Amino acid sequence: MSLQGHSGQLSSLSVTGTMPEAYVTLATNNGYAAGALVLAHSLRSCGTSKDLCIIITPAVSPDMKSLLEQVFNNVVTVDVLDSGDSAHLALMKRPELGVTFTKLHCWTLTQYTKCVFLDADMLAVQNADELFSHPELTAVCDIGWPDCFNSGMFVFIPSQDTYEKLIHMSETTGSFDGGDQGILNTFFPNWNRVSFIFNMVASATYTYLPAYKQFGGNAKLVHFLGATKPWHYRYDSSSGTVQTGPGYQHLAPYLNSWWAIYTRLVKPNVPEMDVQKAVEVKTPVETIQIAQQISGMHIGAESLQEGQARWERGEPDYLGRDSFANIQAYIDTKIKSNGK
Ligand code: UDP
Ligand code: GLC
Ligand code: MN
Repeated sequence: MSLQGHSGQLSSLSVTGTMPEAYVTLATNNGYAAGALVLAHSLRSCGTSKDLCIIITPAVSPDMKSLLEQVFNNVVTVDVLDSGDSAHLALMKRPELGVTFTKLHCWTLTQYTKCVFLDADMLAVQNADELFSHPELTAVCDIGWPDCFNSGMFVFIPSQDTYEKLIHMSETTGSFDGGDQGILNTFFPNWNRVSFIFNMVASATYTYLPAYKQFGGNAKLVHFLGATKPWHYRYDSSSGTVQTGPGYQHLAPYLNSWWAIYTRLVKPNVPEMDVQKAVEVKTPVETIQIAQQISGMHIGAESLQEGQARWERGEPDYLGRDSFANIQAYIDTKIKSNGK
C-alpha cells in the first residue's frame, strides 16, 4: 500500500514554547480546529502545567491558524498523510478517517521528551497531568474491542526513529481499520492500560449504567467519539444547555461544558464562514438517529426506557458539576482579562 502525502519532512515548523512535555492534538480542517480550541481551553481551565501543541495541515485557514497560535504554545504545519484505505474505512463506516494517519506525525515532535496525544473531539474536565508519569505507549481500552486501545488518547515519546518505523509499517503491513488506531495497535501490541477515566467515551449509551453512576464522576478526559460531535448539537445560549435525546442525558453536562467554552471563548473569534459551515446544526432527534445509525447500535425500546427512568430517578447532571464550576471560573477570568 502506498501512503499518500508522506514526504518525510515537515513542511514548516514553528516552535515558541520551551517546556519539554506537551499535550498534542491534530486538526486537518477548521471544524476540528474549533474543537481543538475548546480542548485547549479546557486543559488550561484544569490547570495543566504542560505545553499545548497542535499539528495542522494547510487546509486550516490562515485566520484559524493565527487564532490557534494565541491559545497553543506550538502550531506545527505538516503535509496530510492519508491511508487512502477505503475498504477498511468502510468497515468502520467512517470514510473520512484516512486522514487520521496524519496523527503519526506526532512522533516527529522531538523537541519534547514526552507527550500525551488527545483527539480534537475531547474535553478535559479534571487535570490529567499524571498521565506523563506513564511509559510509551499508555492508553485506554477501546469500547468496541477492549483488547485494542483507543487512539483518542495515548502517552508517547517523540522519536524520529519510531516515526520512520511507523511509516514503514503503514506502507508494508497497513492498518486493519484504515486509520491510525489500526496501525498503532499493530505497532504497540504490549501497551500499558490506564483507567477509562482518561478517555471516557461520552457519545455512547452505556450498557453498564451502574458503573457509569459509580465511576463517571471521576472522569478526567471525555471523548466525543463517533460521527456526531459536540458541534453538531443545538445549543440554547439563553439556558446554557444542549438538548440531548432520551438515553443520552448522561452527555448533557459534558456537552454543556463544551458549548460554554465554545460560545464564550472560541466563537467570538473564529472566522465565521469557515467554522459555521463545519458546525452543522441538527435537531437532537436527528443527531441521536445519526449516532445510532453510525455506531451500528440498536437500542431496544425497553433498555432505552429503563435507562431514561434511571436517569430520571437519579440526578442526570450531577456528574461534572464540580468540573463545570472550574470551567466557568476560567471563562470568567478570560473574559475579564479580555482573552489574555
Ligand atoms: N481529524 C482531523 N480531520 C478529520 C478527521 C479527523 O483532524 O477530517 C483528527 C481530529 O483530531 C480527530 C481525530 O483525527 O479528533 C480522530 O478523528 P475522530 O475524532 O473524528 O474519530 P473518532 O474518535 O470519532 O473515531
Ligand atoms: C478510533 C479513534 C480515533 C482514530 C480512529 C481511526 O475511532 O477514536 O482516534 O483516529 O479510530 O483509527
Ligand atoms: Mn475522536
